[in-house]
Amino acid sequence: MKTIGVLTSGGDAPGMNAAVRAVVRTGVSLGMNVKGICRGYNGLIEGDIIDLDVRSVSNIINKGGTMLYTARSPRFKTEEGLNEAIENCKKAGIEGIVVIGGDGSFRGAKDLSNRGIPCIGIPGTIDNDISSTEYTIGFDTAMNTAVEMVDKIRDTAQSHDRCSVVEVMGRHAGYIAIQTGIAVGASAVLVPEVEVDIQKVVSKINNARKTGKQHFIVVVAEGVGGVEKIAEQIEARTGIEARATVLGHVQRGGSPTVRDRVRATQFGNAAVHLLDKGIGNRVVAYRQGKIVDIDIFEALNMKKEFDFDMLEIAHETSI
Ligand code: ADP
Ligand code: F6P
Repeated sequence: MKTIGVLTSGGDAPGMNAAVRAVVRTGVSLGMNVKGICRGYNGLIEGDIIDLDVRSVSNIINKGGTMLYTARSPRFKTEEGLNEAIENCKKAGIEGIVVIGGDGSFRGAKDLSNRGIPCIGIPGTIDNDISSTEYTIGFDTAMNTAVEMVDKIRDTAQSHDRCSVVEVMGRHAGYIAIQTGIAVGASAVLVPEVEVDIQKVVSKINNARKTGKQHFIVVVAEGVGGVEKIAEQIEARTGIEARATVLGHVQRGGSPTVRDRVRATQFGNAAVHLLDKGIGNRVVAYRQGKIVDIDIFEALNMKKEFDFDMLEIAHETSI
């Protein structure tokens, strides 16, 4: 393969830039031309494609966001959009594409691969909710940001003897919530994988109170929803003043951690080596300490087990 493209798609995640850098630098090292496709699949449909050289990706390894911009592209899901995308690939001489994003983006990569443009998916989302991999780019940075924010919230919760109920991101998954909850010593962690039991949270707080605990942190995953309501219920049933905070998009930004930069670089490098061998229709993944690659169709059909032991650990260590 002489010319490859790279795009970022879906929600951005810290470390995507490091992955783009790795794709460009590996591609050039292997004698390829690398083109940047801007704003996800929209860039393919609109022909918004730029040439990238080794220096185009200087000084981005430490930056959050994505220099290629990102987007959600409903048009790409239509037959007409897909055809335009393929046409523009041909015009730009793009023979293979590295797609950095989540499961949705991988579905797009599968469609392109099946239509003769081999694609390799790189898992990029702060949610860590991609079944085929134990790790997704951005997860570590997002958790560290969430922990930093909750540590600040704890200062004020402690001063006022309050209960702070903090919503962290995770549309369908509680991975950020459980790890953050453990890292901040939260009294309770609520995740979408488990039915919410407010009475259990209330009993936990009341029991801890008897042993002298005066302020409380409850971490709630976005997918559970109703953080204000949860705070109201805790206040009504414990008599402890409660405040709700939604951390929101602060978790999607910031300089990526070492873990995100290194994983992103490994993923980017592995993806280009696959394309160089003419291999497409696969995703790279981190499994059992190794970078591996898996057929996209298989990857999309995998199931990811939530680590319920972590919930138990959070529960037993926050009495
Ligand atoms: P993520 O990649 O983070 O899961 P989305 O689900 O929003 O994010 O998907 C990102 C983009 O991938 C969508 O806007 C669309 O362009 C493309 N995409 C999503 N689902 C499909 C699908 N079933 N078929 C083709 N393309 C898809
Ligand atoms: O998938 C990553 C994520 O940050 C989710 O945690 C969150 O629900 C969603 O994206 C928010 O997306 P948007 O970019 O539309 O605000």
